[in-house]
Amino acid sequence: NKDRYVLGIETSCDETAASIVKNGTEIVANVVASQIESHKRFGGVVPEIASRHHVEQITIVIEEALKQAEMVPEQLHAVAVTEGPGLVGALLVGVNAAKAFAFAHQLPLIGVHHIAGHIYANRLEQEMQFPLLALVISGGHTELIYMKEHGSFEVIGETRDDAAGEAYDKVARTLNLPYPGGPHIDRLAHTSSNPVPFPRVWLEEDTYDFSFSGLKSAVLNYMHNATQRGEEVLPEDVAAGFQNSVVEVVTGKTLRAAEEYKVQQVIAAGGVAANKGLRNSLEKEFKKLGIPFYIPSLPLCTDNAAMIAAAGSVMFEKGIRSNMAMNGRPGMEM
Ligand code: KG4
Ligand code: ZN
Repeated sequence: NKDRYVLGIETSCDETAASIVKNGTEIVANVVASQIESHKRFGGVVPEIASRHHVEQITIVIEEALKQAEMVPEQLHAVAVTEGPGLVGALLVGVNAAKAFAFAHQLPLIGVHHIAGHIYANRLEQEMQFPLLALVISGGHTELIYMKEHGSFEVIGETRDDAAGEAYDKVARTLNLPYPGGPHIDRLAHTSSNPVPFPRVWLEEDTYDFSFSGLKSAVLNYMHNATQRGEEVLPEDVAAGFQNSVVEVVTGKTLRAAEEYKVQQVIAAGGVAANKGLRNSLEKEFKKLGIPFYIPSLPLCTDNAAMIAAAGSVMFEKGIRSNMAMNGRPGMEM
C-alpha cells in the first residue's frame, strides 16, 4: 500500500484545526473549531484570547480528526503544521502540539507556510497546472504568487499596508456592521443602485503591489463629511462603492499578471476570495481570456488544516523535514 496520510495542524489565527489528507489530494478528516464568537464583541481577533482557546481546543480537534478518519496515529506518515506567519502565541500552540505528536509517534515533522497552505487548498478539489498564478486574499494577506512548479513560490505582488480583508473589516465597522464585516459588505453591495465613486489605487504602472489604506481612509472621510453636513448616507452605496474599487483593482492586477507570466491556471484563495463581486468579476474576465480559473469551496477558502496537510504532503514527498527546534515564526517569508 503506497498511500500516504499526513496529519495537518493549523492555529495561526482564530481557528483551531486538524485534518488528515491522503496522498496530498484527498480529505479523510477535517475538523475546524472556530473562535469567532469569542472575538466578535471586540471587533477583531484578540491574540491573548486566541492563544487560550487554541490551548483548550488543540487536543480535542486532533483526536476528533483521528476519530473521523477512523485511524490510529501509527497509520500516519507525517505531521504538518503551520509554522508561520501568524500570531506568535497562537502559532506556538499548534507547533508544540505537532512536535509532541510527532515525537510520541515517531513521525516526521514538517513546518508549512500558511500561504502555501491556502494555495494548496485547491489541490484538494482539482489538479494544479503549472505555471500557475495564485491570488491569496484574506484578513491577513493580499498577495499574487507565481508558481513555476510544485513547492516553488515567487511573490510578485503584495499589499504595502492593509490586507484586503482588514480593509473590509474596518469599513464594515464604520458602517456599524458586525465582525467579520466582509460578508456583510458583500451582501449590502449588491443592493445599491448608486455606488459612491471611491478612488482606484493602482500605485505605479508596472507594480503588482496593492494598497488599501488610502481607500479605507477615503471611506472614513466620506462618512465623516456626510455626518458633519447632516447628509444621509446609504450604507449600501458606501459598501458598493468600496467593493467596486477593491474588485476593479484586484481583478485588473491579477489579469495583467496572468497574461505577463503566461500561466496555465489561476487560482484564488483566502476568506476574501469568497466575495461574490470579486468571484464574478474574476470568473468573467478569465473566461474571456480562456485561462482556467478556480476558487476552492468556502470551507477550504477560509483557514483550515486540510490545506496545511495538502501543502505538507508535497513537502513530505520532496523529502523536506523540520526538526524539534522548530518554533512559531510570526513573520515567516515564503
Ligand atoms: O482566510 P480568512 O478566513 O482568515 C485569514 O485572514 O487568514 O479570511 C478572513 C477575512 C475577513 O477579513 C473577512 O471579513 C473576509 O475574509 N471575508 C470576506 C468575505 N467573506 C470573508 N470579505 C469580503 N467578502 C466576503 N464575502
Ligand atoms: Zn488564512
